[in-house]
Amino acid sequence: MREQYVIEGGRRLEGVVSVSGAKNAALPLIISTILTSEPCRLRNVPDLEDIAVTLRMLRMLGAKASFSGGVLDIETPSIADTVAPYSLVKALRASFWVLGPLLARVGEARVALPGGDAIGSRPVDLHLKGLAALGADIRFSQGAVVAHAPGKLKGAKINLEYPSVGATHHLLMTAALVPGETVLEGAAREPEVVALAELLSAMGAEIEGAGSSVVRIQGRSELGGAELRVIGDRIEAATYLIAGAMCAGNVTVDGISKDAMGATLDILSQMGASIEAGENSVAVCASDRLKAASFSTAPVPGLATDVQPLLMAAASIASGTSVITETVFDNRFGHVAEYRRLGADIELDGRTATVKGVDCLSGAPVEATDIRAAAGLVLMGLTAAGTTDLLEIHHLDRGYETLTDKFCSLGAVIRRTPIDEDRELVFGC
Ligand code: UD1
Repeated sequence: MREQYVIEGGRRLEGVVSVSGAKNAALPLIISTILTSEPCRLRNVPDLEDIAVTLRMLRMLGAKASFSGGVLDIETPSIADTVAPYSLVKALRASFWVLGPLLARVGEARVALPGGDAIGSRPVDLHLKGLAALGADIRFSQGAVVAHAPGKLKGAKINLEYPSVGATHHLLMTAALVPGETVLEGAAREPEVVALAELLSAMGAEIEGAGSSVVRIQGRSELGGAELRVIGDRIEAATYLIAGAMCAGNVTVDGISKDAMGATLDILSQMGASIEAGENSVAVCASDRLKAASFSTAPVPGLATDVQPLLMAAASIASGTSVITETVFDNRFGHVAEYRRLGADIELDGRTATVKGVDCLSGAPVEATDIRAAAGLVLMGLTAAGTTDLLEIHHLDRGYETLTDKFCSLGAVIRRTPIDEDRELVFGC
């Protein structure tokens, strides 16, 4: 049965929510467990659709996994298959990262090419150049990458021309099981990379510099089992903090540090919200209408691109004009058409959006196009006058654990209901 969120706008938000484990940290950690035949345990793993898809794929490759109460016990005694099919890579791009670990462990892999998606063309050239530098023979056949390690893979110097998060994860996990030294220059500096390095170190690799642009990895010919707690989700935290600021509320998010939130908090402060950081929590308080702020997205230490649709939601009701530039993805304004349906005044010019804040939004049926676009629409629905019906909420199931419970605990009125299929008309073009 298809479902939607029904959001009644106009409630002030107040209270405390706890963030779940970060999806984007959990995915590389889980995939890395196939580097070893020994058991691994991950704690604080969020119960999300993306995690379920990852586990489904790893089970196909030979993993045995049990997942309950946030604890994932996973073990891959031997690799049963070296193929990752298109259906799974399409459902979850991060599935592509099994390519390197399979190559390092058994010398071959066939992994479907992910292709583009709703936020951009998203090539994987940096992943493949890096694997080739480690000695992989890479070919393409029928929409898949077919890779072999003719000799053994060997540590190498790899220069990432752009600090791609996915390429950094992929090459870091692969290099951990490649004997010799690999130096990754131009690496992504995101906290999720640091978390991955922590797991790989606990498995036996020696890693220096994770979190900086140059990461040195002394790989091993075998890795052992390890245990790690997944870090809190900084994008989920941003979602609740921005919601609090938009609803003139007072919201505390537990389980995340100010440092992990990076530039998001600076922009919220510029918009007039006051921020207070505890040891492992961040609180936002706003009593007046937010003010416009202009910003660009960028890799860490810049503003996370995943927060852009959320801050754009805030800018759409702020006083004044905000200019927002997206530099990370080539097509990450897909949400703008739906934001306009709620009354936002946004002009697009290439990678720049000019947002003239409106006095109030008005609830309407809207459709999500990706995870963060969906979250942005939730935030706008919470501040809009009247009711917003949000469709295509499977995007939220990919990345937000117990979203309605968390928002309702803050005083929001949001519920998940079946869609009345009789009232739905589907037109093609
Ligand atoms: C990850 C995150 C995603 C986040 C993004 C940027 C996960 C599961 N997803 O995605 O939520 O929005 O980082 O912080 O962690 N690029 C290339 N060639 C490559 C690889 C990337 O040109 O080989 C380009 C991409 O097209 C994009 C940019 O680099 O324009 C950033 O992509 P990347 O950092 O790789 O993002 P993901 O790892 O896919």
